[in-house]
Order: sequence, then C-alpha cells, then structure tokens
Amino acid sequence: MSKVLVVGGGGREHSLVWKLHQSRDVEKIYAVPGNGGICEAAECLDIDPMDFEGLASLVQGQGIDLTVVGSEAPLVAGIVDEFEKKGLRIFGPGKAAARLEGSKVFCKELLWKYDIPTGRGEVFEERQDALDFVKGCDFPCVVKADGLAAGKGVIICRYREEAREAIENIMGRRIFGDAGRTVIIEEFLEGEEVSCLAFSDGEEVVPLLSAQDHKAIFDGDKGPNTGGMGAYSPAPVVTAEIEAEVMREIILPVIKAMAEEGTKYRGVLYAGLMITDKGPKVLEFNVRFGDPETQAIIPLLKTDLLLPLNACIDGTLGEISLEWNEGTALCVVLASRGYPGRYERGKEIRGLEELSSGKEVYVFHAGTVRRDGSLVTNGGRVLGVTGMGNSIKEAIDTTYRAVGEIQFDGVYCRRDIGFRALNRN
Ligand code: AMP
Ligand code: GLY
Repeated sequence: MSKVLVVGGGGREHSLVWKLHQSRDVEKIYAVPGNGGICEAAECLDIDPMDFEGLASLVQGQGIDLTVVGSEAPLVAGIVDEFEKKGLRIFGPGKAAARLEGSKVFCKELLWKYDIPTGRGEVFEERQDALDFVKGCDFPCVVKADGLAAGKGVIICRYREEAREAIENIMGRRIFGDAGRTVIIEEFLEGEEVSCLAFSDGEEVVPLLSAQDHKAIFDGDKGPNTGGMGAYSPAPVVTAEIEAEVMREIILPVIKAMAEEGTKYRGVLYAGLMITDKGPKVLEFNVRFGDPETQAIIPLLKTDLLLPLNACIDGTLGEISLEWNEGTALCVVLASRGYPGRYERGKEIRGLEELSSGKEVYVFHAGTVRRDGSLVTNGGRVLGVTGMGNSIKEAIDTTYRAVGEIQFDGVYCRRDIGFRALNRN
C-alpha cells in the first residue's frame, strides 16, 4: 500500500487525485495545497509547492512513498533532483531534462539538432539583431520568450510593427523578466493544434490518448489566451496513422535525443503539436500533464494510474501497457467573470450535490475552497466538468447538460468546446 503526495491545486491535480483514489494500492493521498474538491479525497496541506524543504519534510514525516508534481515550476526549478538526493521517490523529469519546457531555446536547438519536425526559426540574444531580422522575415511570425512566462511568452505577429513591439516588450521592457533575455523568432505554422502525451522511463515510451485544448477565452477561439477553457479526448484529427507518426518521428526521437545528451527524460512528456499539411510539427514540449487535457484523458484510463507512474521511475515501462475506455470525454471549464483578467473570488457554488454521481459526469475542482461549510470560488478557472459519451456529440450533450446545473455568481464558460471534432463528423 502506498501513500502518495500530489503537488498542485488545479483541475489537473484533482483528476490525478480522483484516479489515484480508486487504486487498490493507494492507502492515503496528500495534496499541497489542494483545493475544495481535492480535500474530499486527500489531506490538503498549506505548503508552497516551491518550498522543496517543506515538501521533503512532509514526505519524510508521513512516510509518503511517491510524490507526483502537477505544474512545471517545481520541476524546472529542480524538485526531482532535490528529492532524489534525499532518497525520496518522485515522478517527473530532473532539472536538466525539464529544460525541454523551461527553455524554449534548449528545446528548439535539440529539435533542430536531431532533425525532429518543428518550425524554422532563429535565436536572438541581442534586441537589435532581433529587430533587424524582422525587417526581412515573412509574416505572420511568432516571437517567443525563452523562459517560463506563465503561458504568455508567445506572441503571434501579423505585421512587422507587431513583431517590433513584441521584441521591445520582451527584450527591452522585460515584461516577462529574465525569461525574455533571449527570444526565438519562428515561422508561423498553420493547421490544427493537438496535445499528445506519453509516459517515458528514459528509454521506453507509452502514449496516452490524444487530446485537444481550447486556449482562447471566447467561442471560435477568439480573445486572449487562457490556461485552457476546455478539452476533449481522443482528438479525431489524430488518426491511428498520425499517432504512429507522432510516436515514430517526434516522441521517440526526443526521448532518444535526451538520453544521448546525458539528460534522460523520465515522467510524462506533453507534445504540443500542429498537424500541418506536411505532417505533425512540434510547437512546444511540456514536462508534465496538461491542464485541462488531463481532466479529459484520465477518466478514459482503465489502468491503475499508479502503475505507469511507478514504471517511469523504476525503468520498467516496457513491461506495461495502458487500457482505455471506449468513447470520448469532454471537459468544459467554468471560469469566473473577468478571467483571464481581473475577477472576484468568494462566490458560493451551487448545484454540485444534485449532479448525478453516475459514471457519465465528473466535476474536477480548480479554484475552489471550502469555507464555513460551503464551497466558494477561489480562482479564475473554478471547475472542470467532464462528461463521457459514445461519440463527441454525446459527450458534448452530457457535459453541457451538467454545466447548466451548476451556478455561481459570474460563471462563464465557452459554449463550443469540441467544435472541431464535431465538424469532422
Ligand atoms: P507555446 O507556449 O509554444 O505552445 O505557444 C502557445 C501557443 O502559441 C500555442 O499553443 C500555439 O497556439 C501558438 N503557437 C506557438 N508557436 C506557433 C507557431 N510556430 N505557429 C503557430 N502558432 C504557434
Ligand atoms: N493545456 C495547456 C497546458 O497544459 O499547458
């Protein structure tokens, strides 16, 4: 029997906790900091996910067997190295391998070096060189800050003036701080965007089901980008043929390249891909589970989640395979009015108890907290409602029916999650 710690407090972490809670081999779950939903299945503790010493003492004090990290910041800052130094079991890549997400320049240079499909581009350390380059490049182009910028460091520029402004903001005004010391200017890729995740133990690779995120705040992919307003899995644009191509041309070569560079990648690798008319190309890698994608993928997983997590650490991934449920899962994110800008907190959430607790709808919490016996909003993205269906249409209907039963002041969601998959039918 294992005790597991999940680091994080979003919908992604709730779906991981929910799944781990079903494992016959999990005795107790701890979460840091958790949220109003996670605390029903886990003991939530108020420790900063970046306080590695604090987390390690919790793990040692409680005899926790396995730690799973939700978001990139602790991974990029080296939580895995710190835990391993202390002999503690933790799922995820070490600091050197986490640069795949932590540095876009590291990622791009690796892809270019090993000839793995991605957009063409150039790296600039000097503002003036970048400004000179956009005098002659094709548009649209994409200007990317090298480091972590809370998902905001990528600017798509239609004209030279926009590119100049992006360069001034990132390299001159340093709106993302040191993350903008270096930029990449990249060709704009056209196509449909998908997320392909795979477990890896450093050598072997086991794919998860594909998924598609919806990053923009408004229907039809309009408005500013958010952390993700909804997702579904599997994504029909990823046919069996494309999935095989992604594994053969992208995921496996990256895992091999990382091993060759002396920075073996263990954990879950998330490839953000553009399916172009010349095949899948890498937009970015994340070194963790996606959010909200995980809220759609995990309910389809039949296999005990503990199995692949442990196999990645033990180097035994070659011995396991994952079993999946048939059908589609679709997650709609309920957000607070104003998100991704300013929003209010503390609004009472109603209607959750009445939702049938059957096998068709799961409500994963993100920005929620329990206060004086009621559940209130505590963030921009509040809940992820995942509905299951035999088809994308059924999953959409089931999910939005449930969404209609949940209320809080200022609740907002996109009404068109799944539209691309629906249009394919
Ligand atoms: P990233 O953080 O690199 O995934 O970029 C954020 C978003 O910007 C992606 O999800 C894409 O929608 C978009 N994006 C990034 N790079 C490109 C590109 N080369 N061409 C078109 N869109 C891109
Ligand atoms: N869904 C986007 C992300 O997890 O980064």
